[in-house]
Amino acid sequence: MTKSAVSEAVATDAETPAVSCDDLVKSFGRVEAVRGVRFAVRPGETVAVLGPNGAGKSTTVHMMLGLFPPDAGSIELFGMPPEKAVRAGRVGAMLQEGQLVPRVTVGELVGFVAGTYGSQAPAVSHTLELAQIADLAGRRVDKLSGGQMQRVRFALALAGGARLVVLDEPTAALDVESRRQLWKAMRDYAEKGNTVVFTTHYLEEADDNADRIIVIAKGKVIADGPAEEIKKAAGGRTVAFRHEDQDLDRLAGLPGVNEVRVLHGRVVLTTTDSDATVAALAGAGVPMRDLEVAGADLEDAFVALTSASAEGGAGR
Ligand SMILES: Nc1ncnc2c1ncn2[C@@H]1O[C@H](COP(=O)(O)OP(=O)(O)OP(=O)(O)O)[C@@H](O)[C@H]1O
Ligand SMILES: [Mg+2]
Repeated sequence: MTKSAVSEAVATDAETPAVSCDDLVKSFGRVEAVRGVRFAVRPGETVAVLGPNGAGKSTTVHMMLGLFPPDAGSIELFGMPPEKAVRAGRVGAMLQEGQLVPRVTVGELVGFVAGTYGSQAPAVSHTLELAQIADLAGRRVDKLSGGQMQRVRFALALAGGARLVVLDEPTAALDVESRRQLWKAMRDYAEKGNTVVFTTHYLEEADDNADRIIVIAKGKVIADGPAEEIKKAAGGRTVAFRHEDQDLDRLAGLPGVNEVRVLHGRVVLTTTDSDATVAALAGAGVPMRDLEVAGADLEDAFVALTSASAEGGAGR
């Protein structure tokens, strides 16, 4: 295909999703890593893919980038097969593994990667500004701190003029200040109308940086919605006690309570204010044998969301 045909084919269309994954399935031998993942991302959205170790996040991301094909299902990026979108420079990635070439400067490395995209790539100075590392241009790649290195990898993802970046746990092992700098660069990039998809283990990181959160566990999407909605289901605290014959509808109306479930013979209330909930339960004379109040940590939340979706709930 000629260059002009490529740019025509990748003309921006606000209606076409930046990412469209349809019923993706992928196994490695007997491990079913991804078991029917489906979601779409609109241009300009920032979406977090949240899930525990082994959930299938990286496998999904690799398929999105065309690094290996799904066993079943399909993927389109800007209405194109992933390989074509990547080749056209529309999509950049920061993956979990991968070393940077040593003994060159940051500017040289970004220039080298930009060169592989031909004349459509933006100027190196523009990419360095966008990644907020203009000050590192002359520094040797092998002399950088971990946080600086991640921002260089972000610049490499942008080097072809990408309108979508896919980041697999971009802040793993970074300290607080390095995280802050990387997220600032990413949010500024997103604010220019670009699309960002990133994976994380941390609800807080997802909440702080994404418009929307997709929760994946055991190879399936178990919740998908605005951060507020996911936090309501996953965050907060739980108050649990033995299920006897409490009036569940009445419990739903108690202060702080946003969800009532019965799980393994126990009533589990998700609440934004466990003190007020317990006080109200006591005040109403509700029997609470084996009472437990716990922070809904993310692992609990995944379990809760997983069982909610398994029981036919929307999982959110
Ligand atoms: N190349 C591979 N060969 C065999 N099994 C694999 C391969 N890649 C992933 N898996 C398995 O597939 C499942 C999903 O792995 P994946 O890397 O997608 O999870 P993840 O959500 O990215 O986890 P993490 O948070 O630890 O990065 C795991 O059970 C993993 O062991
Ligand atoms: Mg991973």
